[in-house]
Amino acid sequence: MAVGILTGGGDCPGLNAVIRALVKTLQQKLPEEKIIGFLDGFRGAIENRSVPLTTKDVVGLLPKGGTILGTSNRDNPFKFPISVNGTLEFHDVSDTVIENLHKNNIEVLFVIGGDGSLSIAHELSQKGVKVIGIPKTIDNDLDATDFTFGFDSAVRTATKALDMLHTTAESHHRIMVLEVMGRYAGWIALYSGLAGGADVILIPEIPFNWDAVCRKIQQRKAEGKHFSIVVVAEGAYPEGGERVIARYVKESTDPARLGGIGQVVADHLSRCTGLESRVTVLGHLQRGGGPTPFDRILATRFGVAAVNTWLQGNYNVMVAFLGGRVTTVPLSEGIKKLKLVPVDSELIVTAKAIGISFGDE
Ligand code: F6P
Repeated sequence: MAVGILTGGGDCPGLNAVIRALVKTLQQKLPEEKIIGFLDGFRGAIENRSVPLTTKDVVGLLPKGGTILGTSNRDNPFKFPISVNGTLEFHDVSDTVIENLHKNNIEVLFVIGGDGSLSIAHELSQKGVKVIGIPKTIDNDLDATDFTFGFDSAVRTATKALDMLHTTAESHHRIMVLEVMGRYAGWIALYSGLAGGADVILIPEIPFNWDAVCRKIQQRKAEGKHFSIVVVAEGAYPEGGERVIARYVKESTDPARLGGIGQVVADHLSRCTGLESRVTVLGHLQRGGGPTPFDRILATRFGVAAVNTWLQGNYNVMVAFLGGRVTTVPLSEGIKKLKLVPVDSELIVTAKAIGISFGDE
């Protein structure tokens, strides 16, 4: 028999670390079991493209960014994009996935993914496939786990960017706006803004008031601080306004890709304060590079826990990090809702206590 592994959705630092942990644990506990890695997310399971994995294949993977298996954030087998006479149609090809799993004698499929891939995993489980979910995403927006791996690494990159923007902001007396990822959640903006000493943090959970943001920058100017640092989450938007969408990926079941609010904020702040502004869109740098020590450890714990969970006879669950411990939750719970920043959270209260503005007062 064999086990299957796939990485789905947007990549993030730590995916390779999980693959390594899964393979090492499996080979130690079940040396006879074949390990099959499906390529390019669910597309590999649909097209039956895979590679065998042994401990030799995971040598040196712990610090390596990306995923050796490849990934995709647009290949949902329940709504698979197929061009029919030039028109894009979405077909349910989940039975093909199930056939391919049977062909490969797959007993259990480890799906390493965010809310999209774990929702697919859940749908497959309802058709009888045994799956174990492993949550990843830089966005940290899965409700059933305190942290996903990838998040800490993205925060590291965004914080480093803020440190670097500080020096040039100060030299040129400018407003520097950093746009970070996170989709509909403001976790990356909040954490990096706190760690990087931002003056203003704009997150989707708190629609901002233009006057309040301008006031904050003007107040700094009046205090003799002729530069300001603003972190804006890609999903942030002004009161009564809308999110800025950078592009639509029509093959994707979640086609809107956010982006562009940073420039809008920079332009507005220049106008209302008379200070020069510049915007940096951090983009996919947040998903690149190797994982931080925290993410390496979390990914390793998740990988080992996922194998142990299956060996204990459990499946259709997701491993999760709750209250400092690795545990499991039913997959259905794991995908129920997105985890947004609670507006009254201790982190927001802390940030406000040191004068950081969220553009709401
Ligand atoms: O979910 C991870 C993420 O990086 C989001 O933060 C971002 O909105 C999106 O993926 C970008 O997607 P793509 O790689 O398709 O541009």
